[in-house]
Amino acid sequence: MTLNHCQSFFSFCAAARYRHNRRASYILLFKKKGAFVSTSVQISDINLTYPTESGTVAVLNNASLTIPPGDTLAITGPSGSGKTSLLLLLSGLQRPTSGEILVGNQRLGEMDANALADWRSEHLGIIFQSFHLLPGLTALGNVSLPLEIAGQSDAREQALSMLEAVGLTHRLQHYPGQLSGGEQQRVAIARALVHQPSLLLGDEPTGNLDHATGEKVLSLLFDLHKESKSTLVLVTHDERVAERCQHRVRMDGGRLYEA
Ligand SMILES: Nc1ncnc2c1ncn2[C@@H]1O[C@H](COP(=O)(O)OP(=O)(O)O)[C@@H](O)[C@H]1O
Ligand SMILES: [Mg+2]
Repeated sequence: MTLNHCQSFFSFCAAARYRHNRRASYILLFKKKGAFVSTSVQISDINLTYPTESGTVAVLNNASLTIPPGDTLAITGPSGSGKTSLLLLLSGLQRPTSGEILVGNQRLGEMDANALADWRSEHLGIIFQSFHLLPGLTALGNVSLPLEIAGQSDAREQALSMLEAVGLTHRLQHYPGQLSGGEQQRVAIARALVHQPSLLLGDEPTGNLDHATGEKVLSLLFDLHKESKSTLVLVTHDERVAERCQHRVRMDGGRLYEA
C-alpha cells in the first residue's frame, strides 16, 4: 500500500465523518472486553485490471475467498502476485473490475465513496508495512486520530490506554521520526486497533523489522487479536507470521490457491 492510499484512508474517513457529523457511540474502550465484533469476508470471482500505456495489466484473476468471522488468515506469495491489491480491494480503497466483495452484510460494490469512508472508519483497521504514521503528529496524536475523526470526546483517553497496551507510555509525545522501527510499528498497531475494527488488515506488518523486533511485534499483534476477536488478514513473506494464523492461502499470478 502506498502513502497515498494511507492518506486517502484517513482523509476519506475525516471528510465523511465531519460531513455527517455523527457521534459513533458504538465505540467502547478497548479495555471493555467483548466490545469488538468480528466479521466474515467473502470475495467472489474478483478480477482487477489496470490500463497502462503498454497495455492492460491483469492483477487479480477470478479470485474467490471466504473468511469466517474472527478467523486469522495469512496470504503468502511472491512479490507482484497481487497480495497488496487484494488488501486494497478488501479495504474498499480500490474497486474490482468485476466480481463482488461482501464484508459482513455490506456489499462494498454498492457503497459510494462516502459510505465506504464511513464503513472504514467504523469497521476497518489497517497496518501498513512501512508504518505510514503521520510525521507531524506524536505517537498519541497518531493513535487518537481515528477516534477524533469519529467524533469521540474521549479520544485521548482511549488512545492512551491503547498505547499503554502496546507498551509505549514512555513515548507518547515522540514524533515518528524519533521512534525506532519496532516502536513505530507498535504505534501503527495501536492506531489500527484503537477504534475496535471488526476487520483488521496487515500488509507485511513485520516486513521492515529485524528478527527480534518482528517477533515482539507479532506476539503483541496476536495477543491483542486474541482479546479483540476481530477478523485478521495478514499479507506476509514471513513464515513465522503465516504459522501463527489459523488458515493460509497463496497468491500466484493474481490467482488464489489453497496453501
Ligand atoms: N496502479 C497500478 N497500475 C498498473 N499495475 C499495477 C498497479 N498496481 C499494481 N500493479 C501491478 O499489479 C501486480 C500486483 O501488485 P501488488 O498487488 O502490489 O503485488 P504484491 O503485493 O503481491 O507484491 C504487479 O505486477 C504490479 O506491477
Ligand atoms: Mg505488496
